[in-house]
Amino acid sequence: MKPVQWVKIVLCLILAALNVFLFVVSCGVDYRILVAREHIRFRQEMPTMDSWINSPFGKLKSYVFNVTNAEEFRSGRDNKLKVEEIGPIVYKIVGFNDILERNETNVKYRKHRYRVVEFLPEDSVAPDVLNWTITSTNNVILGAATKIKHTAPLAALGFDAALMMEDIFVTDSVYYFLWEFTRPLLQTLSRISNIRSNVAVLYNALKEKEEVYTVNIGPKRGIENFFRIETLNDEVIIREQLPHTRRYNSNSCPFNVTGALDNSLFPPFVQPDTPLDIVAIESCRVLPLTYQRQQRYNGLDTFRYTLLKPYQKPPGCLDRSYGIKLPDGMFDVSQCVINDAPSAFSMPHFYGSSYNWSQHYEGYTPNAEDHEPYILLEPVTGIPVTEKYRFQSNIPIPDLSSFSLRLKRFSNMMIPSFWYEFEMGELPGFVTALMWINVNIVPHMQPYCMALFLVLALWSVLKAIRVACGDLSYAGLFRKLCGDMGAVTALETKFQATNDSPDVAVK
Ligand SMILES: *[C@@H]1O[C@H](CO)[C@@H](O)[C@H](O)[C@H]1NC(C)=O
Ligand SMILES: *[C@@H]1O[C@H](CO)[C@@H](O)[C@H](O)[C@H]1NC(C)=O
Ligand SMILES: *[C@@H]1O[C@H](CO)[C@@H](O)[C@H](O)[C@H]1NC(C)=O
Ligand SMILES: *[C@@H]1O[C@H](CO)[C@@H](O)[C@H](O)[C@H]1NC(C)=O
Ligand SMILES: *[C@@H]1O[C@H](CO)[C@@H](O)[C@H](O)[C@H]1NC(C)=O
Repeated sequence: MKPVQWVKIVLCLILAALNVFLFVVSCGVDYRILVAREHIRFRQEMPTMDSWINSPFGKLKSYVFNVTNAEEFRSGRDNKLKVEEIGPIVYKIVGFNDILERNETNVKYRKHRYRVVEFLPEDSVAPDVLNWTITSTNNVILGAATKIKHTAPLAALGFDAALMMEDIFVTDSVYYFLWEFTRPLLQTLSRISNIRSNVAVLYNALKEKEEVYTVNIGPKRGIENFFRIETLNDEVIIREQLPHTRRYNSNSCPFNVTGALDNSLFPPFVQPDTPLDIVAIESCRVLPLTYQRQQRYNGLDTFRYTLLKPYQKPPGCLDRSYGIKLPDGMFDVSQCVINDAPSAFSMPHFYGSSYNWSQHYEGYTPNAEDHEPYILLEPVTGIPVTEKYRFQSNIPIPDLSSFSLRLKRFSNMMIPSFWYEFEMGELPGFVTALMWINVNIVPHMQPYCMALFLVLALWSVLKAIRVACGDLSYAGLFRKLCGDMGAVTALETKFQATNDSPDVAVK
């Protein structure tokens, strides 16, 4: 035989061996697991890496309430506050995840949630909404009175006298309440103590907090532990809550971040009963996700989770704010906000809260569609496809009967300061496409791939034989084999040939 023929035969046999090898390997693994194991290695070259690094991205929609009967309420003619929602006031948000360290089992990164914050006039209720004038309760005075009531009840009278100058309602622009809200009292206090003077809601909500996560990656830690947190800022307990944890039974405090997620990526192969908790950094707590149902989104079947269930009892250590027992569907965040102001989170418009707001207000329209916070998670890849992260911040007011009449009128009310919705932006098209392939193609392609490996193996062996016998055609080969082996059927003959191939080739 010519050397060219030998080369051809060897190449064909290598190809055959490779395909047999792939076939045998495929018998022992599940392709879905194989793909997932690659995904959880979290390699820098991963096609979805860029989208993760520049996350979270989306729109922050904020809403404030305009009090329309301040005069009537002050004079006692009305005993309920009439409120009117103003919004959305929309900002574009782009975050950034800065990878600090990574190895086989962990990645450590710093999350800058608000690297880009840009007002979107066209998406807002009106382009000049920031210049609109609204009337709001004077939340500085109400918050201070609540604090005084709890910490120094006897100071109530002096407090009132000192603040006679301050009106109980404030009228100013939307911009002022979102970004620049301050009072003379605060400015004085900030000069002599560590009290901060700007208590505007967005200014404080979008202030960067230190967020350095160490999370599990890689097959060694298990697919089910992918991206579960080991430490946040090198601690297991959320930093703001550390001074307060000793008082409580740790099981009733959602402050341990071990095993929680940062809400950017989730482990693959999530089931409805897989425990998933996220770190809600703006409220300094861990928040369990509650599976609701399946929902179709952009051609993908997703799991819908809610962040807060209607009428959910607050955890033991978050059920009071400055001594005030909170209604169901709320939890305390006062350890976590500027100046430790009394505050509690609820769903917007008091949706799902046992607070009977209609005793004190007219104008809220709580409903699940607009006010229930949720996340849609693609369960095979563990990638969230959209979310509406919504909360309302409220000041819980105690019984203020020891104060002057103008404050007394606010006794036992919940005063909302604003509510917001973070709506995650659309994932880039190719990320969605990869997810679609992962969900719809990968689970079905294994039998086809294995069949292809077999066919290729068979073809290369036959090719080797044909070359060895002097470039025979299939018909010639067929005749030759039938002649040799008598009455065996063609199909069986072929397999026979495969099995005997090493002998044939050596001849
Ligand atoms: C807020 O309410 C006041 C009093 O009713 C009204 O004059 C004002 O126009 C309202 N502001 C907006 C932006 O609707
Ligand atoms: C990977 O890094 C983590 C924390 O950064 C460390 O605890 C762990 O020991 C490292 N693992 C290896 C295999 O180096
Ligand atoms: C809002 O008011 C400020 C100052 O009065 C003005 O400079 C600005 O152009 C106004 N913005 C809009 C969108 O009307
Ligand atoms: C946090 O939770 C983990 C897992 O449940 C537990 O092992 C650890 O002891 C907890 N840490 C603290 C400080 O409570
Ligand atoms: C809530 O308050 C309204 C108005 O005061 C009252 O009519 C209603 O019965 C109250 N609802 C409950 C459940 O207490």
